[in-house]
Amino acid sequence: MDKPLTGKTIILGITGGIAGYKAATLCSRLVSLGAAVRVIMTEGATKFITPLTLQTISRHPVATDVFDERDASIVQHIDWADAADLVVVAPATANSIAKMAHGLADDMLSTTLLAVTAPILVAPAMNVHMWEHPAVVDNVEKLAARGVTFVEPGTGQLACGYVGKGRLAEPDEIVSCIVEKIAGSRPLRGQRVLITAGGTIERIDPVRYITNDSSGKMGFAFAEAARDWGAEVTLIYGRVDSTPPQGVHAVSVTSADEMYEAVMSRLPEQDIVIKSAAVADYRPRLQETTKIKKKDEVQALDLVRNRDILHSIGLWKEQLKQQGKTTLPFIVGFAAETNDLEKYAMDKLNRKKCDLIVANDVSQSGAGFGTETNIVSLYDADGLLLQLPQLSKKDVAKRVLDIVLARIGAEKGLER
Ligand code: PMT
Repeated sequence: MDKPLTGKTIILGITGGIAGYKAATLCSRLVSLGAAVRVIMTEGATKFITPLTLQTISRHPVATDVFDERDASIVQHIDWADAADLVVVAPATANSIAKMAHGLADDMLSTTLLAVTAPILVAPAMNVHMWEHPAVVDNVEKLAARGVTFVEPGTGQLACGYVGKGRLAEPDEIVSCIVEKIAGSRPLRGQRVLITAGGTIERIDPVRYITNDSSGKMGFAFAEAARDWGAEVTLIYGRVDSTPPQGVHAVSVTSADEMYEAVMSRLPEQDIVIKSAAVADYRPRLQETTKIKKKDEVQALDLVRNRDILHSIGLWKEQLKQQGKTTLPFIVGFAAETNDLEKYAMDKLNRKKCDLIVANDVSQSGAGFGTETNIVSLYDADGLLLQLPQLSKKDVAKRVLDIVLARIGAEKGLER
């Protein structure tokens, strides 16, 4: 699976030039790379290619008129502008470039472009003399100075009969510019990362269970960060508060036992394992098949120990080492503590034989279960490695993956 644009929204602006037909290929490529594409066409563009073509390829209605507001709960050009991770204008005529340079807003595309804060990529297409005209050169320079990126037109036979510079860059070239801009560097390309997220559910009877407060946000943030960095991600998740991110192999499990089986059966394929799930240490000794009826004032519940997944991973890795295997997965464990963070983190690191422990003091506000942010300290065999301030869970994930890369990168030829 290599869909670097998964989860990204791209506005494709098409203006009125003969190269408009290539915008259909561009749109199709972006969709196949996982992007949600929202197409805006100028009136001129609709003379060269129909909105229906782009609607069919993008699987979304095409916007052509700024006043055609169909949903009263939103203002469409603002809504689309806010949702965009990138805007690409292809083909961009001399007129559309001039309008952008001077801030005109007289149709859906130019108005949306003024409202956009995401990066803008422009792929011009026009006659060679128009491209070299001082007015166009000025406008291009003005926009470039404002941070607009240009995918230079190619040189060759132009539709007007001239041979020269002005031909729309090929869709593949525009796509690679978009991927580079939007997806950034992909230092985990080719790496397989297994992540666990959420809490487990340990059934008592058909209507009751034991669980914990894990929302899955920390594990999902790892899955997104690793996916964005190009890794092939397997996400094994238990009880969570939201849907898992796109672009990963998501495997839903319920109990600690199921999580154990799901993780252990996939271990041999992995390069990195991140155990952010909150796994129940105990489960009811008996799972009643019918609802337990209330009887006595006091009701005891017998609990038995669950298998420790992280510990089993550590043992498995030790065995591989003893067999002389040199390519071993990098193991990141978590420690959720309310006191004596360092003591318990180091104990878990040594006992469960992980390479790194991410310890969160879950008694702190802004850290641990259910929050958008986390406050973590990282420990390795030498003790405290790094103490991070309060960060979004995605940023925590990136900082931890940075450390993992530093540890395994040189050996595997990965670069940040
Ligand atoms: O999901 P969120 O709401 O975003 O919250 C994130 C989190 C607080 C759950 C996360 O940051 C976290 O700390 N996860 C680990 C929670 C936990 O179970 O910690 P622990 O100290 O009990 O376990 C230590 C390690 O052993 C963990 O990596 C855990 O996954 C693993 N473990 C524990 C028990 C068990 N039977 N098998 C395990 O693999």
